[in-house]
Amino acid sequence: MEKPTDQKILSGVQPSGVLHLGNYLGAIKQWVDLQEGNTAYYCIVDEHAITVPYDPKTLPDRVLDTAAMYLAAGLDPNQSVIFVQSHVPAHTELAWLLSTTTPFGEMNRMTQFKEKKAKQKEQSTLGLFSYPVLMAADILLYQANIVPVGEDQTQHVELTRDIAKRFNSTFGEVFTIPKAYIPEGVARIMSLTDPKKKMSKSDSDKSYIALTDEPDVIRKKIASAVTDTKPIFSFEKSGSAVKNLLTIYRAFSDSSTEDIEANFANKGYKEFKEELADVIISALTPIQERYKEIRVDEAEMRVALGRGAHQAQSVANQTLHRVKEKMGLM
Ligand code: AQP
Repeated sequence: MEKPTDQKILSGVQPSGVLHLGNYLGAIKQWVDLQEGNTAYYCIVDEHAITVPYDPKTLPDRVLDTAAMYLAAGLDPNQSVIFVQSHVPAHTELAWLLSTTTPFGEMNRMTQFKEKKAKQKEQSTLGLFSYPVLMAADILLYQANIVPVGEDQTQHVELTRDIAKRFNSTFGEVFTIPKAYIPEGVARIMSLTDPKKKMSKSDSDKSYIALTDEPDVIRKKIASAVTDTKPIFSFEKSGSAVKNLLTIYRAFSDSSTEDIEANFANKGYKEFKEELADVIISALTPIQERYKEIRVDEAEMRVALGRGAHQAQSVANQTLHRVKEKMGLM
């Protein structure tokens, strides 16, 4: 896939738990590549994180953890605008305006709502249902044309496109029509305990590798990851569990599909898993070292996020102003 240049990029992660390999490979790694040569906005979407039960006491720490991980993974506040969603009120204001133009039936089709609703013990909220409209506002405020996300978010980006097109044709041209940018090969990293489900921070901690997991924890989680009955190492023929582990190996090892298959052809799961843990650990160690250094300096992080919010706000407010004018709001 050719790297886009001169584009406007927007993406975000929810501070709903520790970031994991799926968030990194499916989203943040792409963000780092895309920040150069493009105008990139990366937010910590705290208003999305509160659409499911959460602890208000720990949310501020989660936000700072996520910000520190963005920086440790290679996002540079001098190149990208890095900010917290709730610091820019235009997001929720535009979401309301867009919700008045979004048919209920379109929202009813959103599969992530159905999945998240099924996972919850308590009744799900209107906020969880309307989450995709807030996501549309996040994207459209910055006139983003590229949205780097994992495969699970394609339906939401499609909805955003429909919302933008409908608005432009009803009220007049305001919004750029965005496109999802899905990474090849790592678009959906699966759970280590159930390869039918995507790796998710709200599942049990054995099912994901957190970006902050210590080496011995990574080794244990990989050692107990489910596999298929016969040790076949093939991106085509292996079962879904091993394919997922091979995909993670390829993403972190920089080896080709052919070399990986040849390397493990006569080996067993034990050896494969040891090597897999090694490549993950060597990729994550420098990120974890930077994370520890960055995370201790909360004051500096708050300053950087304040600067990001200020930059984001001036762009977001211009779009919001045009929307309100077109909608006849005085
Ligand atoms: N397993 C995954 N494989 C590839 N990409 C993934 N992403 C998430 N999981 C995978 C991508 O990471 C970005 C941020 O996601 P998010 O945390 O905002 O929301 P999510 O998709 O709901 O992630 P989780 O881990 O499943 O969170 P919870 O458990 O809180 O709902 C998105 O680009 C997403 O595609």
